[in-house]
Amino acid sequence: MASVSVRLANISDSGDIFAWRNDKLTRRMSHSTDKVEWEDHSKWFEASLSNPNRLLLICSLANDGSKAGVVRFDTESDESVISINLAPSMRGKGFAKPCLEAALTYFRKEKPAIKRVKAEIKSLNEASRRLFVRVGFVFLEEMDSVECFEMLMNQP
Ligand SMILES: CC(C)(COP(=O)(O)OP(=O)(O)OC[C@H]1O[C@@H](n2cnc3c(N)ncnc32)[C@H](O)[C@@H]1OP(=O)(O)O)[C@@H](O)C(=O)NCCC(=O)NCCS
Repeated sequence: MASVSVRLANISDSGDIFAWRNDKLTRRMSHSTDKVEWEDHSKWFEASLSNPNRLLLICSLANDGSKAGVVRFDTESDESVISINLAPSMRGKGFAKPCLEAALTYFRKEKPAIKRVKAEIKSLNEASRRLFVRVGFVFLEEMDSVECFEMLMNQP
């Protein structure tokens, strides 16, 4: 399995995250399918970097440092919602699982008080469903063609 490293996103990642967000498949699989404008993205991204309840992690391949994708955690109270977006050129190459696992390992260490992480996945998103199940998420419920999965964290 590919070795992946994880770090906090910073302002220099803004352009990549913007490009990945406007990719056709990403938009189709997102809650909001609209194209995002650069100004709106910039405001969202800068606010995200200083939002203590949001963690944006960049996953990179350990061998050459190339960026593979971004994992986002949005926390409220003692639970968090996760999402992943791989760079389009990095999909279908076996990087999704190591990226997700590395991000979850980072998150577990950074946020030990969080009890559960949820993933909201469109029912049509077979690749994402398989990915999350493979790393240990379990199905909770489906509502309006969105499936909710969860992983319990830091259990005693
Ligand atoms: C979801 C995403 C991270 C998955 O990464 P990926 O590299 O494309 O996925 P993989 O190639 O590792 O495939 C994951 C699994 O789905 C399967 N799969 C891949 N594409 C598929 C497709 N179009 N239809 C059905 N299954 C598919 C793979 O066979 C694999 O299954 P397995 O683990 O049982 O072998 C990536 O496609 C992505 O960034 N998509 C856009 C954003 C998105 O949908 N994010 C998820 C929102 S929570």
